[in-house]
Formats: sequence, C-alpha cells, structure tokens
Amino acid sequence: MYAPSDDTFLLADCIRQYNGRWALEIGVGSGLLLDILQKNFTYVAGSDIDLRALQHCKQKKASSANLLLVCCDAASAFGIGKFDLIISNPPYLPNEEENNTVDPTVHGGPTGIEATVHFINSALPLLAENGKLLIVISSFANSSALDKVVLENNMHKKVVKEKRLFYETLSIVELSP
Ligand SMILES: C[S@@+](CC[C@H](N)C(=O)[O-])C[C@H]1O[C@@H](n2cnc3c(N)ncnc32)[C@H](O)[C@@H]1O
Repeated sequence: MYAPSDDTFLLADCIRQYNGRWALEIGVGSGLLLDILQKNFTYVAGSDIDLRALQHCKQKKASSANLLLVCCDAASAFGIGKFDLIISNPPYLPNEEENNTVDPTVHGGPTGIEATVHFINSALPLLAENGKLLIVISSFANSSALDKVVLENNMHKKVVKEKRLFYETLSIVELSP
C-alpha cells in the first residue's frame, strides 16, 4: 500500500478548499485524502484496485456513515452518478521494463502517463455540470498526452498548486467542463 508522500500532501492542501454533496477519489491508498473529503462533502466514494488498501481504509475509519468504498479499476464501478469533485493521485512513474516489475501503486504504464489518462477518461463522464477533477501531475509526465485528453474532451485545464522537489515538480491540475 502507498504510504502518503509529497504528492499526497500537496493534493491534501488543495482539496480542503472544495466542498459539495458528492466526491470521489480514484486510488484511495491509505485513505488520508478520504478523511478530508468526508469533512467537506455529504457523501464520499473511493475506489482502488488493491483490496488490502480498501480494507485498511475501512478499519481505520472512525465513521464510515457517508463513505462508499469499491474495489474496481479507476471509476468503472460508478456507471451512474454525478460528482462535484473527483480527485486522484495516480501512479505516474514509467514501468521498470528492465526488472519486469510493475508496482501499481507507483507505475503508471510504459511512459508513466497511461494510468493518468485512463483515470481521467474514466472520471470525466461522472462529473457534475459544474464539477471539478483534481489530479496530480509530475514533471516526468508526457504533458502532450494530457493536453490531448483535455482537448478531446473540451475541458478547461488550470494548475492550482505546484511544488518543486529536487528531482521533479509536482502540480495539481484542475479540469472542468
Ligand atoms: C500514488 S498511489 C496514491 C494513494 C493515495 N491516494 C495517496 O495519495 O496517498 C496510487 C493508488 O492508485 C491505486 N491504483 C492503481 N491502479 C489503479 C486502478 N487501475 N484503479 C484504481 N486504483 C488504482 C493504487 O493501488 C494506489 O493506491
């Protein structure tokens, strides 16, 4: 399971400023971000492909009255639904072809951006009319692949927060219809 890191904390700082009725997190990991969403939204849903991560989230929750956790790929379980906010800190590092190891908590595909694009495509149909999607993007990412999805879906893109680390720059990108 992914231990909260700089990317988690950067996204945490951002989401405190959003509130509404329904929120969704794709790839909940330890559940740290769910705690913040639960304070600002009436109902919160979360997905992860790792059943153990979901089990961990459920066990550590003081209250899960407004929380729905689903083990699925991206947002695939949510066929119908309109979310005011969807967030994700996707796995974004390129797969390590040499060792032939893929860790789904950090590896996002051959170039790293594939999981991000997949999560965005899965989330967009579920956004409410004025809904927002917040996603962590690393400077390692192929930004043209991201721009292509934004263009194809006629979305607005805004960088709402940035943090320079010594090896990469992390950005929180807000997408809206
Ligand atoms: C970088 S971690 C982020 C975890 C947590 N949200 C955080 O910020 O600390 C990415 C998470 O996405 C999950 N994940 C990877 N592929 C997924 C998929 N196809 N569908 C849903 N979750 C996935 C991983 O299991 C992991 O928990």
